Amino acid sequence: MNSKIVGIGHYVPENVVTNDDLTKFIDTTDEWIQERTGIKERRWFNPEKDTVANMATRASKLALERAGLEASDIEFIVFATITPDYFFPGSGVLLQRELGLGGEVAAIDIRNACSGFIYGLSTADAFIKSGMYKTILVVGAEIQSSALDQSTAGRSTNVIFADGAGAAIMQATDENTGVLTTHLHSDGNFAEELYVKDPGSSRKVRLSTELIEGPSFKVYMNGTQVFKHAVVRFEEVINEALEATGKKSEDLDLFIPHQANLRISQFVQRKLQLPDDKVFNNIMHYGNTTAASIPIAMSEAWEQGKLKKGDLLCIAAFGSGYTWASALIDWSY
Ligand code: UT7
Repeated sequence: MNSKIVGIGHYVPENVVTNDDLTKFIDTTDEWIQERTGIKERRWFNPEKDTVANMATRASKLALERAGLEASDIEFIVFATITPDYFFPGSGVLLQRELGLGGEVAAIDIRNACSGFIYGLSTADAFIKSGMYKTILVVGAEIQSSALDQSTAGRSTNVIFADGAGAAIMQATDENTGVLTTHLHSDGNFAEELYVKDPGSSRKVRLSTELIEGPSFKVYMNGTQVFKHAVVRFEEVINEALEATGKKSEDLDLFIPHQANLRISQFVQRKLQLPDDKVFNNIMHYGNTTAASIPIAMSEAWEQGKLKKGDLLCIAAFGSGYTWASALIDWSY
């Protein structure tokens, strides 16, 4: 038994924040941001309207519609996010509730940051291959903007990270198609290179005025270190997937990298010697939406006719943890 993606959807908040908007409260320029990251604009959530769970719900409903399925067809939910609505429970159960599903459906949350969607896809693939479930909803959704230091001190993160959601419906198939291989890695030695420290459970007092006023509630990133590791790990993990399937980079029809930084994507593209029309990037419009970036990009690539039935798709990610991952997919719809 194999697993294949039968529907994909995404949702991004309506609120567009351009680089020029950021210059109103941060000492930065449109030129710097575009030059170093490729980002022109991003979406930040509307606190009156958007939650991680309801953005995921909108993306999931679109994926279901495109798959020609009903929410009641879903047997299992895999929810990748590092920005859950609550400290606990995870957002998976909230999505289940918003889809109107009852207790017969199981839900788990995956907290693997930028690699979260591929970890989720790999988890779903394994459950389907084991025969335990036949239809699984895999989601990546994030609200990062509320965890950013929106002052000049936070300018290396607040220009990059953003909000959004993407969803894929995976189903069992006895055909030789769909997810061909997945590869997952992590190295906790670098956990504090990209993290949000508080509120941490190992503090006697989780919240205090002193803590809230300090920097530890905001995203911390050692950008240069993350960049250096990312370019190496991306290439490694993609080659691992190619070797596992006996494929070469020229066999790929489309490469969708996690949208971390356009410079990282371009570096990896050069290493793989892929032409521009075989790489899909949309970081220019959405920034880095962590676990949501790959499914949002897959959904847009599909909408634009750049991802077609029979295409060999490679997805790969690197991020906090560190964690990194890849998958090769024989696209089947
Ligand atoms: O998604 C998961 C993983 N995340 C990533 O993969 C992100 C990886 N890292 C990066 O994308 C890049 O490191 C950044 C875009 C975050 C930063 O770019 P950089 O080229 O590594 O810049 P830097 O941090 O080395 O800073 C260079 C200079 C500094 O000024 P000085 O010290 O040279 O005077 C920074 O203060 O650029 C300054 N700077 C900025 N200037 C204007 C940093 N952020 C900004 C900014 N606007 N937004």
